Amino acid sequence: MSEAREQWGSTAGFLMAAIGSAVGLGNIWRFSYVTYENGGGAFLVPYLLALFIVGIPLLLLEFGLGHYMKASAPLSMFRIDRRFQWVGWWAVVFTMFGILTYYCVVIAWCLNYILFSLYQPWVGAEGGADGFFFAEFLGAKPSPGEPLRGPAELTAPRASVVVTLALVWAINGVIIGRGLRRGLEPVIRVFIPLLFVLMILLVVWSLFLPGSGRGLAWYLQPDWSQLGNWRVWVAAISQIFFTLSLGFGIMIAYASYLPERSDITRNALLTAFADSGFAVFAGVAVFATLGFMAQVQGQEVGEVVTSGIGLAFVAYPKVISELPFLPVVFGVLFFTALAIAGLSSSLSLIQAFVSALGDKYEIDRPRMVGTVCTVGFVLGLVFTTGAGISWLDIVDHFMTSYGLVLVGLLEALIVGWVFGGERLGAHIEEAGDFRLNAHYGTFMRLIMTAALALTWFGLHQAEGGLGPFLARLFVLLSIAGVWLKRSWLDYSLKVIIPVVLLALIDRSLAEELTAPYGGYPTEALAGVGLGWLVATLVVAVAIDRHSWRESQRRPGS
Ligand code: ALA
Repeated sequence: MSEAREQWGSTAGFLMAAIGSAVGLGNIWRFSYVTYENGGGAFLVPYLLALFIVGIPLLLLEFGLGHYMKASAPLSMFRIDRRFQWVGWWAVVFTMFGILTYYCVVIAWCLNYILFSLYQPWVGAEGGADGFFFAEFLGAKPSPGEPLRGPAELTAPRASVVVTLALVWAINGVIIGRGLRRGLEPVIRVFIPLLFVLMILLVVWSLFLPGSGRGLAWYLQPDWSQLGNWRVWVAAISQIFFTLSLGFGIMIAYASYLPERSDITRNALLTAFADSGFAVFAGVAVFATLGFMAQVQGQEVGEVVTSGIGLAFVAYPKVISELPFLPVVFGVLFFTALAIAGLSSSLSLIQAFVSALGDKYEIDRPRMVGTVCTVGFVLGLVFTTGAGISWLDIVDHFMTSYGLVLVGLLEALIVGWVFGGERLGAHIEEAGDFRLNAHYGTFMRLIMTAALALTWFGLHQAEGGLGPFLARLFVLLSIAGVWLKRSWLDYSLKVIIPVVLLALIDRSLAEELTAPYGGYPTEALAGVGLGWLVATLVVAVAIDRHSWRESQRRPGS
């Protein structure tokens, strides 16, 4: 490389950026509707167990690998073995031109809703907040009483969303175009503290609403029997990938800008805990508010919302109009928090892609960023049409349940078996400022054991049969492996994560064949969801065909 690799201004800058990437729409918009759809407290336990069993080890992998290779995801994979670079390319291509294209549309809705909060146009609209969101704002229904348009019923893009979408891409482009030290880092340093302050305000506010206790009880009451339900596990593990930005190539790129001596373990644990802590905390605001709504409408908490994806955009507006004081301020605060969370993550997705391109081609950065953002904007237009919400639902399902999970599986196998999980663990320990090896190892083993033991206990509640029996047996063997093997991380990458993720993919596929996802027509699922995933794979393989510049074949060059 002709230029020295950029570095974060400080470790705190890196940590904020990693937390900023992790904490996003996934923690408020996606976490709340996935939690709601999966029964509230029934979801929370598998979600937290998935964090420990899959999330933290994979985060250590991504941070450790990026730091070791000083490279983006594709170049890191290339340096392990050139045959694997397509995995890195696929990760950054399908997240940049798949996940990010609809992600920015949701941020655009937030910008619209910040304005709407000022005058609440859903009050008095036909069909209330629901009718306003789906029919009037998105044009996803011809009229409020009718069902959602199917994926084939494309209409012209909605002008109001196109305008805010263009703004979202422009903001992203300007910040990323200025580079790490002059663009991303200073912006994140303002965004993240602001986001946390906004969320604290919202949580405190929601706790004072009448009925909030009912919502919280529904949210926090665990249901152990659900641990035997595969659907809840699939939702929980996919959510962990989405929320920790795993399988996106982001954390690999971010860690590549860290200085030689960096405490990877501490940073990974802080990022993971801050992210999930934020999601659970934000959930308090969401579910306390739903409790209030249930009370006002005289319904059960599990019945107040009818639309999953629209939860934040239907339930919140309803609540805003019912609030006894300062509804406008509450609405503006909520949608601003959502927009800031979204922007700090969208920036990270673009940075991961730009970093990968920059490792491979010598292109002028502003021009590269401009082109990438324009393509992203154009692809995203399909989500602003009347069929957009169906497309969003399908693409999100395929990208998250298959794309991210497959990349995570491949990463674990490649790093565990080819690069060497012990080698990675040794690098992470050597790079740290403090020699905490023994204590850290014991600490992680204890955490893993506790998470696995609780999983065993949960599976034990499930109905009998060969599946749960084998799952329980595997959990017991995993506990033994974590203690008996020299490196718990090595065992986790080589065995635990691949088996868990393969089981998950198996269940998802079986489910897919039994009942088409979301009741959509099979052609739509194959064309839109699978098609999008395969198209990005083709692009990734095409880029893979160009070999790297000679100077970039070795780490540290
Ligand atoms: N990790 C990001 C989020 O949760 C993508 O929104």
